[in-house]
Formats: sequence, structure tokens, C-alpha cells
Amino acid sequence: MSNDLSFLQLTKVHQWLDELFLAHRTALLGLDLSQAKLLFDRYETNLLLHMKDEEESLIPIYGARISDVPGGAVELFIAEHKKIRKFLAEFYQALRELRNNKGLALKHKAIELLDREGMYAGLLQHHHAREQNALYPWLELITSVEERANLLAGCSSLSAYKASLDAGQGAK
Ligand SMILES: [Fe+2]
Ligand SMILES: [Fe+2]
Repeated sequence: MSNDLSFLQLTKVHQWLDELFLAHRTALLGLDLSQAKLLFDRYETNLLLHMKDEEESLIPIYGARISDVPGGAVELFIAEHKKIRKFLAEFYQALRELRNNKGLALKHKAIELLDREGMYAGLLQHHHAREQNALYPWLELITSVEERANLLAGCSSLSAYKASLDAGQGAK
């Protein structure tokens, strides 16, 4: 099967998103607040696109055609997305507030935020693994080649990832 017709391509999108988040955290560690904000915005935009792809086209097909997948209930994916969005809103707000601090206070606030982001990164690893072990492999089995081609062509996050490769941007 051509790689272009496999949902496992979305694993690459997960890796790309993780790299974008790490680039943001690296800027935050260096107290480069404007770069940290810019990279966070880029990360958030693409992650929201990715979750939208999953919620609006992939999860509905999966939910309609299959059930009782251990660790792969639709409700779990949706609940994790909800938690992810909550964290993103928290980080957005914390990054705004960081700008009001200087010196040692700024360093302490940045450490607090990095700690929260570390917790979130753990949740995200768990979520990505769940999708890669259940959602994507099952979608591979329950869709036709034509459906896969259409679904993948409609994934905005996959297009954004490919565009970033073409632009040679990676996570920079
Ligand atoms: Fe997801
Ligand atoms: Fe995903």
C-alpha cells in the first residue's frame, strides 16, 4: 500500500506537533517571550486543526463502524481532546501574564509554566499512543482505498505538515 494512503502518516503529524511544542518550550526556557508566544501560536493552530480533522471526519467513521476496541472508545478520544483544549487555554493565558513579570519573578513564573507544560506533554504522549494503537490502525482496516484517499486529502493538519516540509521549516 502506498504510504500516501495510510492513516499512519498522521503519526508524522503527531511528531511534528511534538517538535513544535518542544521548540516553544525551548524558547520559554531561554525567557525569549516573544518567540515562545509565536511558537506556541503556531503549535496551537496546528494542533487545533489536527483535532478538528479527527473529530469531524476520522472519529465519526471509526465510531460508526466499530465498537468495543480496548482503550479505543470514542468517548476517550473526545474527553482527551477536551482536556487538551483546556490546557491550551491555560497556557495561552499564562503566556500573556508572563509579560507582566521581570527578573527573578519572571524566572519563577516561567518554571511554573514549564512544569505545567511537562504535565500536559505526558497527557499528550498518552493520547497520541492511544490514537496510534487504536484509532489509526482500525481506520486502516475499516475503510476502502478510495475512502482513505478522500479522508486523508481532507486532513488540514496533514496538508499543513506537508507544507512545512516543503518550506523546509520543520519545527523552527
Ligand atoms: Fe487526537
Ligand atoms: Fe491525533
